Amino acid sequence: LHIVHIAVEMAPIAKVGGLGDVVTSLSRAVQELNHNVDIIFPKYDCLKHNFVKDLQFNRSYHWGGTEIKVWHGKVEGLSVYFLDPQTGLFQRGCVYGCKDDAGRFGFFCHAALEFLLQGGFHPDILHCHDWSSAPVSWLFKDHYTHYGLIKTRVVFTIHNLEFGANEIGKAMTFADKATTVSPTYAKEVAGNSVISPHLYKFHGIINGIDQEIWDPYNDNFLPVPYTPENVVEGKKAAKEELQNKLGLKNGDLPVVGIITRLTHQKGIHLIKHAIWRTLERNGQVVLLGSAPDPRIQNDFVNLANQLHSSHGDRARLVLTYDEPLSHLIYAGADFILVPSIFEPCGLTQLIAMRYGAVPVVRKTGGLYDTVFDVDHDKERAQAQVLEPNGFSFDGADAPGVDYALNRAISAWYDGREWFNSLCKTVMEQDWSWNRPALEYLELYHSARK
Ligand code: ADP
Ligand code: GLC
Repeated sequence: LHIVHIAVEMAPIAKVGGLGDVVTSLSRAVQELNHNVDIIFPKYDCLKHNFVKDLQFNRSYHWGGTEIKVWHGKVEGLSVYFLDPQTGLFQRGCVYGCKDDAGRFGFFCHAALEFLLQGGFHPDILHCHDWSSAPVSWLFKDHYTHYGLIKTRVVFTIHNLEFGANEIGKAMTFADKATTVSPTYAKEVAGNSVISPHLYKFHGIINGIDQEIWDPYNDNFLPVPYTPENVVEGKKAAKEELQNKLGLKNGDLPVVGIITRLTHQKGIHLIKHAIWRTLERNGQVVLLGSAPDPRIQNDFVNLANQLHSSHGDRARLVLTYDEPLSHLIYAGADFILVPSIFEPCGLTQLIAMRYGAVPVVRKTGGLYDTVFDVDHDKERAQAQVLEPNGFSFDGADAPGVDYALNRAISAWYDGREWFNSLCKTVMEQDWSWNRPALEYLELYHSARK
């Protein structure tokens, strides 16, 4: 098949959250299975250019009252066409955050379709993502099905229903197939009015992670490469480096890591509560996160200052986006906490497991589908041919998060051998795209029937 993704985030050149990871890693997985994948992407001025290889001018065309220059390059082995409208639409220093984002991305989607038409492409599948490339699906049905793209089908994936319900509603109507990023989130949103009329073509497919990109045996940001066989040694070295780097007390303490956008979705009150609970239990906490909302950011700056004076040797909040530090935290932490209020899939718990950190999560969306409580989910895990792999809780209040976190920290203190074998178990589980990529392929094929 020839699959073309039209997207506005892509790791590592322009990643804001998990959507960027998925565009790259799903494409790589499908390409590995011998399909032909292209990505059409805005040529932002803020692209991380060092990750773009063989960038060359490809062509230029006119559409929407402007000249659009097209550049072609390779990102993580994927073919990417960069659209560069000469009006400076993507010269804003950011991916999101401008007042006219909806208009800019609407223009981009239309320009991408025009590029395909004028360039004589005949893809089998156009795959668009979230509100930002949702316009592809109705623009395509309105303007392009009768021209050269008659055999093309549109697949639309919802990564987060919280943003752009209007755009998502229109895309749900016109897409040939629609997906979201876990079976449980698919059930959770099934009653939503923009989803419910379209359940017959709506599927929940769990995300994977790219095991080459996230690989503790081959990771420049870690002091000692490790596999499940030397997980204890590898994580010990990473913990020490993490403690040194952040000026925390050295030593063998249970370390709870949190790596997140700081937004309502991620359970901010639960995160704060968990920080204090971990400190009470004599653990260390490392939070890496940034808040798009300045009020939340300020709130955390104040908390960081407070903790710096009261628990400077055991708590560090790093309130920025820092890719290298995220790798060291996944490796150096014993636990990764994800207490989200809702979570369509969640990648941090999957990356955590790849690095032998045990997830502690709220039971929602993709967290429910990927984390199986060591005390309560043996049967549910068995049904997936998996060993239990973490700690989880219901509810959205302090006793809930305490219930999971206390058991996790107690397990660390009381049974190190058992805990170490749990780290090995989680590392050995397969949260790659191996399975989900096949499900996407099945869906692509069924869209063409
Ligand atoms: P979401 O897309 O809702 O933010 P996901 O769990 O799907 O959540 O994906 C988050 C991705 O962003 C992961 O790859 C995670 O490692 C990364 N990430 C989140 N916050 C930061 C940060 N402050 N610094 C570096 N990476 C981060
Ligand atoms: C969204 C969701 C997250 C998901 C990611 C990738 O950002 O919030 O749960 O993992 O998209 O699909």
